[in-house]
Amino acid sequence: MKMRLKLGSVLLGIITFSNVFYTCKASRAAGCRRRATTGKLNMTTRSEALEIIFKGYDKHVRPYSQEGKPVNITVNMRINSVYEVHEEEMDYTMRFAFRQKWTDPRLKYNVELTRGKGHPYMQLESANRIWYPDTFFMNARSAFIHDVTKRNLGVRVFPDGSIYMSQKITVTAECQMDLRKFPMDTQVCTLMFESFFHTAAEIVFKWENTDKPVAISKDMNLPHFDIVALETKEVNNVYKSGKFNSLEVHITFQRRLGFYIIQIYLPCVFLVFLSWMPFWMDPGETGDRLAVGITAVLTLVFLSGAMNNKMPKVSYMKAIDWYVIACFLAMVLSFVESMAVFRAGEHNQKKEAKDAEDWGVPLTKRIIDNSNECYDMKEMMSDETELTAENGPVRDRRPRLIRLQSLAKTTLRGACNKKTPKKKGHHKIDRISHILFPGIFIAFNVIYWLIYMS
Ligand SMILES: *[C@@H]1O[C@H](CO)[C@@H](O)[C@H](O)[C@H]1NC(C)=O
Ligand SMILES: *[C@@H]1O[C@H](CO)[C@@H](O)[C@H](O)[C@H]1NC(C)=O
Repeated sequence: MKMRLKLGSVLLGIITFSNVFYTCKASRAAGCRRRATTGKLNMTTRSEALEIIFKGYDKHVRPYSQEGKPVNITVNMRINSVYEVHEEEMDYTMRFAFRQKWTDPRLKYNVELTRGKGHPYMQLESANRIWYPDTFFMNARSAFIHDVTKRNLGVRVFPDGSIYMSQKITVTAECQMDLRKFPMDTQVCTLMFESFFHTAAEIVFKWENTDKPVAISKDMNLPHFDIVALETKEVNNVYKSGKFNSLEVHITFQRRLGFYIIQIYLPCVFLVFLSWMPFWMDPGETGDRLAVGITAVLTLVFLSGAMNNKMPKVSYMKAIDWYVIACFLAMVLSFVESMAVFRAGEHNQKKEAKDAEDWGVPLTKRIIDNSNECYDMKEMMSDETELTAENGPVRDRRPRLIRLQSLAKTTLRGACNKKTPKKKGHHKIDRISHILFPGIFIAFNVIYWLIYMS
C-alpha cells in the first residue's frame, strides 16, 4: 500500500513536470522560463528589465522638462591622438573618447532588475532608446563617430537614473594660427562644443569636477609638436536665439624646431658660407665667382619655395621668412662684392694699359717669347722704357705701336689667366669682405635667435 502511494506520487510528479515543460516550450511565456530554469523567483531577463525601465518613456522629451529645470551634462574627455596640425588649412585633427553624464529621473529603476547581469547598471549598445543631448562641435570642419568593427558608442543606465554615454570621435577642427613667430611659435587650438538647439535654460554643460576633465594618452606623440598645456573653460554664448552654454578645451602646441633647423636654417647658413667663397678666389676669375653666387641664390630660391608650399598664404612675414631673406641679402651682397672687385680690377687694368700706351713700347715680340713669365711685365716695361727713351721722342712712334700693343695686351692677359695669377694676394675689397660679411652675418644670427628664442 505504502509502495503504491509512493509510486503514484512519483508518477504524478513526472506528469506535472513534463506538462509544465511542454506548455512553456509551446508558449515561450516569460514567466514560465523564469520559473522553470532558475527557481529564483524575481530574476528578470534583460529585455524584460528594459521593458520595465522604458515603460512610458518618451525619448523626445528631455529630462527635467516638466520641472522646468535645466539638465546638467557633465563632460570628460580622453584624447587618444592629435595626429595632424595643418598650417596651410589652419586646422587639426584629434581622436578622443567623449563621455557625457546626466540624470534622467524617469529612468530610475529597482536595483533588483540588474541582478544576474554582470554589473550594477543596464548597458545599451545604441542610444536610440534614450534621450541624449544634441552636442555639436562648433569649430569642427568634419567629425565622425568610429564604427569599426562596431559603432564605438556605449550607454549605461544606472538605477538612480544617471546615464553615462561614451563615444569615440574624430574631429577635424579649425584652429586660427598666428604664424609670425613660425617656426618658433606656439599655437593654441580650441575645441568648442555646445548644445545645437537647447539654450542654457534647458541644458547646462559642465566639465567633470576632477583635476583633469581632459586627459591625454601617455603614449601620444606628435611628429612636429609637443603639447605643453591643456586648459578647460565653461563659456556662455549669447546668440539671437538665446543664451547657450558651451565648453571649450584649449590645447597649446609647441612646435619642434628640429625639422626646420635641418631643412631650412642649416642649408641656408651653408649657402651663405658658399656665397662667401669667391672672396678667397682670384679677383680675375669673375666668371667662376659669379657662378658660385648664382648657384647659391638659385638653391635658396628652390629651398624657400619648397618650404612655403606647405604654408598658408599669409600676408605678414614669418620668423623663418626674415631668416631666408637675410640669407638672400647676404648672397646678393657677396654677388655685388664680386662685381665690385671685377670692376675695380678692370679699372686697374685699364690704367696699366693707359700707362703702357703712354710709354709706347714694342712689347709684342718679347711678350710672345716670354708668355710664360707674365709677372715680369712691369720689369719688361721699364726695360723698354729706357730703350725707347734712348731711341728718341715717344710721341713719334705711337701710331704704329697701338695695334701691336693691344695685341700684346690680349696675349698677355690670355697667357696670364691660364698659367699664373696676375696678382699675388687678395684684392682690397675682398680683404675687407673676409671680416665684414661673416661679422655681420654672425651679429644678425645673435640678434635673430635672441629675439625669437626669448
Ligand atoms: C520578489 O518580488 C516580490 C514582489 O513582487 C517581493 O516582495 C520580494 O521581496 C522579491 N523577492 C526577492 C528575493 O527580491
Ligand atoms: C544642476 O546644477 C546646478 C548647480 O550645480 C544645481 O543647482 C541644479 O539643481 C542642477 N540641476 C539638476 C537637474 O540636477
